[in-house]
Amino acid sequence: MKKLIALTAMLLLAAGSIGYAEITFDAVQKVDVSHQDTLKFKNLPQYQSYQKNNDDTQMTEYNGSVPHRKHDCLSPLPEGFKHCQPYLKNLWLGYAFSYQYDRARGHTYAIDDVFKIDRINRYSEKAGLPATCLNCKTNTIPDYVNAFGDDFWKSEFHHYRPAHDGKMNSIGCTNCHDQENNFRLAITSVPLDDALKRQGKDWREASRDEMRSLVCAQCHVEYYFETGVHGVAAKPHFPWDEGMNPADMWEYYSNGQPERDGFKGEFVDWNHSVSKSPMIKMQHPEYEMYHDSIHGANGVSCADCHMPRVKSGPATISSHHWTSPLKSDEGMSACMECHGDKTPEFMKDRVVFHQDKVWTQLLIAQEKSVRAHEAVRMASEYPNLSPQNNTILNEARDLVRKGQMYWDYVSAENSAGFHNPSKALETLAFSQQYSDDATQLAIRATDYAIAKAMDKPVKELVTPIMEHSRKLQQSQTHLDSHPWLGYLPLLPEADLIWNGYKRVK
Ligand code: HEC
Ligand code: HEC
Ligand code: HEC
Ligand code: HEC
Repeated sequence: MKKLIALTAMLLLAAGSIGYAEITFDAVQKVDVSHQDTLKFKNLPQYQSYQKNNDDTQMTEYNGSVPHRKHDCLSPLPEGFKHCQPYLKNLWLGYAFSYQYDRARGHTYAIDDVFKIDRINRYSEKAGLPATCLNCKTNTIPDYVNAFGDDFWKSEFHHYRPAHDGKMNSIGCTNCHDQENNFRLAITSVPLDDALKRQGKDWREASRDEMRSLVCAQCHVEYYFETGVHGVAAKPHFPWDEGMNPADMWEYYSNGQPERDGFKGEFVDWNHSVSKSPMIKMQHPEYEMYHDSIHGANGVSCADCHMPRVKSGPATISSHHWTSPLKSDEGMSACMECHGDKTPEFMKDRVVFHQDKVWTQLLIAQEKSVRAHEAVRMASEYPNLSPQNNTILNEARDLVRKGQMYWDYVSAENSAGFHNPSKALETLAFSQQYSDDATQLAIRATDYAIAKAMDKPVKELVTPIMEHSRKLQQSQTHLDSHPWLGYLPLLPEADLIWNGYKRVK
């Protein structure tokens, strides 16, 4: 059966412009993923610890696991939280992230959450996003890649919902361990394996300490999807070839080699609806943020802080409850391994000390980015811009893109700056400068005509968009409710077709 699928795929590929074989709904249901089921390992003590990832009831000062909307500072949990960024929906307008962006919670929820999120189009037969989105949510990917080869990545997301129903296939044991080989740590993520190969590295030769971070780097990293033109359609790719810092990624995304990576030096995730700037969305670059931090430089691994040694019955094991260390004495015991001369309270205060400073600058960077979009919008609607001024306006758009990418490197990273405080602050300082420069250029592009209109506090210039979703975008009244929403197309009226693991219509 597998051979037949592979053969059909090859024939279609040979046909060139026809492109990739369609992977059918039935073919997906037939792939046997049962040997990955985490329940199989329930007799190991690590399993009991793993079950604690189901606790989503506790927040810390800046983080924690109670899911809520990350742009809502006004509502109490579980709708909102005191530390939020009110302009998230504005900044991502025109991109699916603007429909829903929630606080992350434990690994056991990853698959439930991706099947619920409004970013995937559940109002249509086609998800609008490919199956590749499952890469970091489940332990089943190696089986699908084995069955369908590289066609897997761009196949229809919805087909995989029923296939995951009623099983323990969220992030689980086989994502990080080789069950055929004494449960030793293993990299099962294809994109990480690829990224290391491009650096001439092989994880099989990595040290135990390196592996204690690399298993996390399978998912806690920035990535983009390759295009079919130069790469493999929709396959995740880590933009690490120039380095892992914001300036390296900027270089990669904006001046990269088209032959190699599938875009002509101007990678775009989407065009912002209001400023029409070509945007880059960062996703959770924990590994990249951490790698040159004080801890990264000293060889402290992710597992050193997030998987302390704990008692489980008679055994002492590595905690498999991956969460904020600040939540409990058990969590803080990780820090005490090395900072035993201090108290847990002192260590917690040091974490929050760094986070307070990063968060203040993050909010400023966010507002400056909104202001820059608004300036470019006004300038682009100003009548009769000369060709020279249009060139200036396009330079402004490039800086909007850069400012927001730098902000998002810190914003999307999940430690509120703790993983690398000085890098987080430097990145936000650059973000603010780029966004300010964008605003200045947009004003200059109108020969200062919009200067007066722009001279207002950002909250009076543009209000935060608090409500937005795929359902709401089906209503003209909603689009009329905020000047920026007016730039979106009205979506056709439709009911939910897919939700969770099931077809609901
Ligand atoms: C020096 C210890 C340390 C190291 C090393 C470390 N972390 Fe963290 N991590 C923390 C602390 C402290 C926080 C902040 C928790 C909070 O604010 O409640 C955190 C936060 C996080 C969060 C967000 C938790 C939440 O509650 O939302 C994630 C995800 C995370 N770390 C992943 C990683 C990954 C992946 C690595 C390795 C690339 C890593 N961490 C390395 C200590 C560490
Ligand atoms: C996100 C990656 C990840 C997942 C998922 C994971 N582990 Fe681990 N596991 C680790 C790391 C890291 C270590 C520490 C290994 C080391 O230090 O050599 C570890 C250690 C272990 C060990 C060695 C003893 C110990 O406690 O240090 C066993 C056994 C184990 N895990 C079983 C499991 C089981 C069972 C599951 C599923 C319920 C699981 N693991 C899921 C990363 C993971
Ligand atoms: C297969 C992908 C994958 C791997 C491997 C992985 N993570 Fe995660 N991690 C996720 C996803 C996805 C979430 C968010 C899940 C959700 O919100 O439904 C998450 C959430 C977390 C959180 C936040 C949990 C909370 O309490 O709110 C922490 C902390 C974390 N991961 C740390 C780690 C560490 C440390 C490692 C390596 C030992 C690791 N992760 C490996 C994908 C992964
Ligand atoms: C494996 C050892 C190790 C572990 C575990 C560890 N650290 Fe560290 N930490 C270090 C080293 C090494 C330094 C560098 C300074 C030094 O030598 O004291 C450091 C420095 C720091 C600093 C000062 C640097 C700065 O950026 O302000 C803070 C704060 C800190 N650690 C917090 C934590 C917290 C919180 C945890 C637990 C979540 C933790 N560390 C876990 C080894 C560790």
